[in-house]
Amino acid sequence: EPLELSALVDVDAGTISREIFINEQIFRAEMDNLFARAWLFIGHESQIPEPGDYFASRMGSDPVLLTRDSEGEIHVLLNSCRHRGMKVCRYDSGNTLQFTCPYHGWSYSVDGELVSTPGELFGVPQFHNAYGGKLRRENWGLVRVSRTVNYKGLIFATWDDDAPAFEDYVGGFMLWIDNLADTLAGVPAGTEAFGGVLKWRVKANWKFVAENFLGDMYHAATTHASVEAAGIGPAGANSSRHGTSPEALAKRRAIQHSTSFYLLGHGATDSAIEQRVPPTFADHPELTEYFADLFAKKVEIRKANGQHVGGHGPATLFPSMSFHSLGFPRTILVAHPISPNETELWRWFIVDKDARPDARDWLRGYYMRYSGPAGLTEQDDMENWDYATDASRGAVARRYDYNYAQGLGHSQDGPIEGTVESVHWSTEENARNFYRRWLRFAEGQSWASLMDPCSVKKPDVVA
Ligand code: FES
Ligand code: FE
Repeated sequence: EPLELSALVDVDAGTISREIFINEQIFRAEMDNLFARAWLFIGHESQIPEPGDYFASRMGSDPVLLTRDSEGEIHVLLNSCRHRGMKVCRYDSGNTLQFTCPYHGWSYSVDGELVSTPGELFGVPQFHNAYGGKLRRENWGLVRVSRTVNYKGLIFATWDDDAPAFEDYVGGFMLWIDNLADTLAGVPAGTEAFGGVLKWRVKANWKFVAENFLGDMYHAATTHASVEAAGIGPAGANSSRHGTSPEALAKRRAIQHSTSFYLLGHGATDSAIEQRVPPTFADHPELTEYFADLFAKKVEIRKANGQHVGGHGPATLFPSMSFHSLGFPRTILVAHPISPNETELWRWFIVDKDARPDARDWLRGYYMRYSGPAGLTEQDDMENWDYATDASRGAVARRYDYNYAQGLGHSQDGPIEGTVESVHWSTEENARNFYRRWLRFAEGQSWASLMDPCSVKKPDVVA
């Protein structure tokens, strides 16, 4: 029996059914109607610098390969043999001339063509004997995405021929993406992925993760209280990031507004015009100075270009790419859905290509202590998602909606077209708009409808 999805998400009342986080049928609708259509983050250009380089990534539930061919072109290919579906590449990353399927030996070039070789040892083994020469190799290359975009080194792709241009899909949220992709001093595209990608699984739906970063400032004081209370923040005791000094607390409380793109579904825990200051590190005054200098340069550049000076997040690009971009840490977290109740998290760490060596080294340690499965704050969040899931899917528990009513009717106009901002530092406006966008995708609405500004009523704002 078809599920009435719109009955499960009541944005105006601020209630959402637990079913959307646990139901198999809804999960399949998400994979078909959302992840097979939306623009998704694949990886960073710096992960595949040389011809033949590849990085194994995912798009929703599908494994893909990000490759660079001999001409330097970037490709995104389904990592599944066209013969019986075997993964043609089982490594995380590397360099190769071609991908040879381990099952029966079909071989593909790094741009996805099913290759032919004169001796018939590679390409399609026994091509003439086994297929009588009748197999049309040109029709059996690896499945390619519809479009790929390299935005300042960040690679995105979509499976959908009808998807809008990447710039239109992102809209005014590009300010946040720019802050992620540019250097701390505002130099465009001057960043690189740093070290490996941390990967781990949580027993929770992928939307818990996306929602956490797109606007949930509410959880921090409770969930991460131990980090604050013990003064063991990875930046050192009494840093402004996690310290308990009056100065540190005042700085954090000064962060007031979050931003919601009510048509496009993206959200951020800060404003486009709020000039956050980089944190101070009591134990490392020289680094405090270094980062503050770079940030001052960026603000100067942005102002000279007539651009906003905020937009650093934490933030989530709809649907599943979350990130922090101020630099402490500056990381990307993608929530790959595995099943309704299982998600694989991938964390990339981003650093300026020309970062001062001591800053780079310090950041490496900081990233590991802060984020990822061994990081202080990530562990806190993971426990919440796992236990919330376990306690939500029982026969009785699943009858009761979650409450998303915080800040209903209590937003204000944002400085960017198509946004509202929270009045208070905490709101669930971002989550409500995220789920409204989610619902429209899950229902399979057309791109014309999904991108039509008139199709969504702007949330009520305070006078
Ligand atoms: Fe790949 Fe058969 S599954 S060659
Ligand atoms: Fe958190």
